[in-house]
Amino acid sequence: MSKTVHIKTYGCQMNEYDSARMADVLAPLGFAPTASADNADMVILNTCHIREKAAEKVFSELGRLRALQVARARAGGRMLVAVAGCVAQAEGEEILRRAPNVDLVVGPQAYHRLPEMLARLTRAGGSAGGSGGGSGGRGVLDTEFPVNTKFDQLPESVTPPGASAFLTVQEGCDKFCTFCVVPYTRGAEYSRPVADIVAEAERLCAAGAVEITLLGQNVNAYHGIGPGPDGESWGLGRLIRRLAEIPHLLRLRYTTSHPRDLDAELIAAHAEERKLMPYLHLPVQSGADAILKTMNRGHTADDYRRLVDRLRRACPEIALSSDFIVGFPGESDRDFAATLRLVGDIGYAQAYSFMYSPRPGTPAAGLAAQVPNAVKAERLAMLQACLADQQAAFNRASIGRTLPVLLERPGRKPGQLVGRSPYMQAVHVAAGDAALNRIAEVRIVGAGPNSLAGELATEAGVSASRPADRQIAVEARP
Ligand code: SAH
Ligand code: SF4
Ligand code: F3S
Repeated sequence: MSKTVHIKTYGCQMNEYDSARMADVLAPLGFAPTASADNADMVILNTCHIREKAAEKVFSELGRLRALQVARARAGGRMLVAVAGCVAQAEGEEILRRAPNVDLVVGPQAYHRLPEMLARLTRAGGSAGGSGGGSGGRGVLDTEFPVNTKFDQLPESVTPPGASAFLTVQEGCDKFCTFCVVPYTRGAEYSRPVADIVAEAERLCAAGAVEITLLGQNVNAYHGIGPGPDGESWGLGRLIRRLAEIPHLLRLRYTTSHPRDLDAELIAAHAEERKLMPYLHLPVQSGADAILKTMNRGHTADDYRRLVDRLRRACPEIALSSDFIVGFPGESDRDFAATLRLVGDIGYAQAYSFMYSPRPGTPAAGLAAQVPNAVKAERLAMLQACLADQQAAFNRASIGRTLPVLLERPGRKPGQLVGRSPYMQAVHVAAGDAALNRIAEVRIVGAGPNSLAGELATEAGVSASRPADRQIAVEARP
């Protein structure tokens, strides 16, 4: 009998990738994906623990699902609820205690064991005592590490990729930034072997993907075993060059990278590899050396400036984005001013910024010098205004250019498609469905704060994936 599963994804792209893998694991059990929770036989919340707000969402969503479960039970049916992802890993036991309607708690390294967990649940008639990681409530919990067994045991994907696909090449993190939960929720750094990644990329391209974004919590720490008999370790730069040999693959991206792991080989790939998009998300978090030190980022603000200079010398058109945290413990007005100065010096095409959120179990949460919320909010508003100006300037500088745009999805208006420029800008284009999933040369005619408007310059088709002219990064710098 066919059943349906609704997977709701929070957090980063790695969770999006994992959600698709969970769908792959459940497909042989007869679960077909459905877009709504309302009539689903199973609902999976794939959660994020990075900030308090993200984690809280899970409990409010579980409350909402409770009502659906009750209605279903009244009608003589059953809706299973599972919590996956980083909240599951960090707070599995508490979830089972606080939310008795949860049937399964599955950590990010245990998705391949979902069928086994479901079988256990069925055997116990829905009241399994729990095993694997041990359970405090009636649901089944599995939050075991390590990472490597998961990739070996996940089935080949049956979820069709879009024109732009994600591919996780690395998981976990050994950096232990003092504010961050990822090393605890995702575990130690692990790199998948080159041969597995190449095979998965070839399958994605055979199924229609023309762009692949390589994912990892710390993607440029990648050091996977090469395909040769010598067992040599490959870095991300070498992996990118290998993947670029796949004929139908036209664009490569990677995220998220750490400044400390951006090595010469990867910088050279940005200079030479035409399929590697001239856009890099390179989080810096703060522009103040004292804060970077307490954060355990392992570099100074000037190290970051020098790194960006090297990147721009290698690839003058490269556009940058970043993450920032304001109000980290001990951050003074002068420290915050140093962050604004760094932003002014670099000139970002786009960026994300957050108020520091103390996370249980992380070293920074215990620091005495916590910054009051009102100060955090004021700094965030100032930083965001500055970043929004830079983004708007960057977008304005695109007007008049012709950019290759990968048209990925229908727009809100009929006869409109939306795609991405090489610099990750969303571009709205008047174009028919025939152009969908193609790279089109688009003349940019308008720019808003978050997107561009363009017109097809030629018939959409497979074309050069990087722009012909190299002006934009320079023009956009303040
Ligand atoms: N691995 C990436 C970041 C992953 S988390 C890196 O090293 O840059 C994504 C972003 O969330 C971080 O870059 C950081 O800006 C933000 N973040 C992480 N923990 C946070 C916390 N406790 N409070 C506020 N923002 C946080
Ligand atoms: Fe978190 Fe730091 Fe690792 Fe990024 S590098 S995932 S911020 S610990
Ligand atoms: Fe969130 Fe986990 Fe990703 S905490 S950002 S879902 S690695």
